[in-house]
Amino acid sequence: MKSTKSARLLTVLVVFCITVRFLTTQEIINNTTPAQDNTTTTFTGIYRKHLIQARYCGNQVLQEDQRYRTVWVRSKIECVAVCRLDEDCVSIVYDKGQAQCHLADSRAFANCTNMEPAEPAASFYQEPPPCGYGETLGPLGLCICARGFNGTPCVRYFHDCADHYYHGNWLGDDEYSIQPLDSPEPFGVFCRFIANVRLHVMVRKKNKNQEDFNRPWNDYRDGFGRYDRDFWIGLEKLHLITSADRSYKLRVTIRLINDTSIVHEYNDFKVSDEASGYRLFFNTSVLNGPDDCLLPLLDAKFSTYDHDKDEAANLNCASVRKGGWWYRGSGCGSCSPHGILYKRSDGKLQGEQDEVFWSFLGNAAPYKLNMYLVPGDAVEE
Ligand SMILES: *[C@@H]1O[C@H](CO)[C@@H](O)[C@H](O)[C@H]1NC(C)=O
Ligand SMILES: *[C@@H]1O[C@H](CO)[C@@H](O)[C@H](O)[C@H]1NC(C)=O
Ligand SMILES: *[C@@H]1O[C@H](CO)[C@@H](O)[C@H](O)[C@H]1NC(C)=O
Ligand SMILES: *[C@@H]1O[C@H](CO)[C@@H](O)[C@H](O)[C@H]1NC(C)=O
Ligand SMILES: *[C@@H]1O[C@H](CO)[C@@H](O)[C@H](O)[C@H]1NC(C)=O
Repeated sequence: MKSTKSARLLTVLVVFCITVRFLTTQEIINNTTPAQDNTTTTFTGIYRKHLIQARYCGNQVLQEDQRYRTVWVRSKIECVAVCRLDEDCVSIVYDKGQAQCHLADSRAFANCTNMEPAEPAASFYQEPPPCGYGETLGPLGLCICARGFNGTPCVRYFHDCADHYYHGNWLGDDEYSIQPLDSPEPFGVFCRFIANVRLHVMVRKKNKNQEDFNRPWNDYRDGFGRYDRDFWIGLEKLHLITSADRSYKLRVTIRLINDTSIVHEYNDFKVSDEASGYRLFFNTSVLNGPDDCLLPLLDAKFSTYDHDKDEAANLNCASVRKGGWWYRGSGCGSCSPHGILYKRSDGKLQGEQDEVFWSFLGNAAPYKLNMYLVPGDAVEE
């Protein structure tokens, strides 16, 4: 019995891995071109040794005592060529008036303390430091993080789906790797773009009850299912995304059998950490009727059949409703998105404890029920 279940789970996982293209952070980083800084003149493509004009010290050149060799040249190009052939040469002072090329093996400091005023006809060029991936040459001749990168070393951070979209890494609805501010490592989420709002798909329940939602705590914590069928993102990811520096709305979209769509949004949606029971929080809701089912669940702890935190004596709501959720009190609350979709032909509720329902719909049963995290500043449809 147990082995059949793990075998089935394994199959699901294998299929999951094959079907869903997972972009690792490394791949994303390698696929993204860092911004180029064009504040400097480069000789790229002509000389292997790039000498760029260093203007950040004003009209100054490298101090005389740092130059180790002087040659007569007819042009700046020739001076560059001499430096290129000299292994030790890192910078040049080209003196057009004297037709002299001074070679040096050091560079201008960012604070310019090793520079001296130059003759009007002299100019200074140096090899830029080798900048690594995600870096660009800064105005002071130092490598700095390119736009969209930060940290030491420079790393591209995608905090959420919106970052992928706005930093030119959008390849359509798919799984993307994100790393919210306090997350120890990146993880995958499914990002959807719908009518000008950037979304994370959180939970998706549709068609034929393809995924078993009657699962233990660890599954609800870590997430389960397949993006193209039914799935649950996982409470830990929800916590990490919603507890970072940006605000999100929980958007619940419900499709009825007659194709009517109902959208409910909960502003400033947050889920606390595991130690405090993944408590539910939101500020205000939009489109809520007087019987909004999430309102009485504010600050409730999440429950699963093996982790009963519903505050109801002698009752295990997650077990009765056949799915993990925020439940409270002997009535368990009036939203139950993770049970069974009975899909009656008349579109009505079956009247069972374990079916999917959402209170404000009255007698109508959800035909599909999806949830997304939407950036707090997303425009309303
Ligand atoms: C990304 O680039 C780094 C550095 O060039 C390389 O070591 C790494 O293997 C690349 N990763 C992928 C997934 O291509
Ligand atoms: C960089 O190049 C762009 C396009 O040629 C130009 O519009 C811009 O002024 C340049 N920036 C600087 C700082 O030179
Ligand atoms: C200027 O920069 C150089 C090289 O980074 C450093 O050794 C020196 O102490 C700096 N001088 C001042 C006055 O900051
Ligand atoms: C669809 O069903 C709901 C619930 O029964 C009802 O309120 C709504 O008016 C219906 N919409 C249409 C277009 O028939
Ligand atoms: C909801 O947000 C508003 C505006 O930011 C704030 O004034 C109010 O205190 C918040 N309510 C709760 C319950 O946090």
